[in-house]
Amino acid sequence: MELDEILKVETQEISSGTVEIWTVNRPEKLNALNSKVLGRLDTEGTRLESILKEDLAARRALILRGAGEKSFVAGADISEMQGFTPEDARDFSRLGHRAFGRLEKLPIPTLVMLQGFTLGGGLELAMCCDILISSPTAEFGQPESNLGLIPGFGGTVRLASRIGLGKALELLFSGQRIKALEAQNLGLINRIVSDTDLFQATLKVADELTKRSSPLAIAMIKRLARAAETRHFELACQAEAEAFGEIFKSEDKREGVSAFLEKRKGSFRGK
Ligand code: CAA
Repeated sequence: MELDEILKVETQEISSGTVEIWTVNRPEKLNALNSKVLGRLDTEGTRLESILKEDLAARRALILRGAGEKSFVAGADISEMQGFTPEDARDFSRLGHRAFGRLEKLPIPTLVMLQGFTLGGGLELAMCCDILISSPTAEFGQPESNLGLIPGFGGTVRLASRIGLGKALELLFSGQRIKALEAQNLGLINRIVSDTDLFQATLKVADELTKRSSPLAIAMIKRLARAAETRHFELACQAEAEAFGEIFKSEDKREGVSAFLEKRKGSFRGK
C-alpha cells in the first residue's frame, strides 16, 4: 500500500469553512497503528500546523476516523511489535507520543468518529482529540495488560485525566472492554449517534462548534484548557515511553504477544 493511502487526507466544506478529514486506512488489520501510520500522523500534523500558522481560518476543524465499519483503531500493531527490542519499543512509544502530542495541540477543534473497536493505542489516539463521537455499538478498552504490555501512547496518563484515577485503573488493570453507553456515562466520550449517520453527525457537530465562533477565540480557549489539563503530561509520557521499552525485556510480554498472534489465551508468570 502506498504511504499516503495508509492515512487518507481529504477536505470538506461546512458553513464556517473547510474541515480536514483524516482516515486511518488499514481495515484488514482493524486499522492497527504501525510505525508507518504513526509517521504519517506526525507528518500530516506538522503540515496542518504550518497551514494554520499562516492562516488560522484555513481549516475550521479536523475529523479523525478509521476505515471500514469494524473498528476505529484496534491498537498498536502487535505483529510489528513482536520483533521489537526494548530500544525499538521505547522509540515506537516516543514516535506515538510525538505524533499524538502534535494532534492534541492543534489550534482547531478535533473530532474523532468511533465505530467498532477503539482499543489500546486506538483509545489513546481518540483521547488526544477534543470531541469523541461514537456509534452505539463501539467498544472501548486498554487491553495491553492482557498482552503482558502497558499502554505506550499516553494511556497511563490520559485515561485518568478523562475519567478519574479509580475507574482508569480498573480498566487498565483488567483490560476489560466497555460499551459506548458506559463510556458515555464515564465521560470518556461526548456523544452517541446512530451508525448510519455517524459521519454526517460528526460534520454537523464540527459545524455547531465553529459557525458562530472566532477561530482566534477557539485557539486561545483550547490552548488554555489543554495547558491546565496537561501540564504534567510531558514528564509522565516520557516515563511511560521508558517503561514501555523496559517491559519488552519481560517473559510476560513475549508470552502475551505470542498468545495473541497464535490466537490463544496468555499464561503469565510475572517475569
Ligand atoms: N495489531 C495487529 N493486528 C491486529 C490488531 C492489532 N492491534 N488487532 C487486530 N489485528 C488483526 C488480526 O490479527 C487479524 O489479522 P489476520 O486476519 O491476518 O489474522 C485482523 O486484524 C482481524 O482481527 P481478528 O480476526 O482478531 O478480529 P476479531 O473480530 O476476531 O477480534 C479484536 C477483534 C477483539 C479487536 C481482536 O482483533 C483483538 O483483540 N485485537 C487486539 C486488541 C489489542 O490488544 N490492542 C492493544 C494493542 S497493544 C497497544 O496498543 C500498545 C500501545 O499502547 C502502544
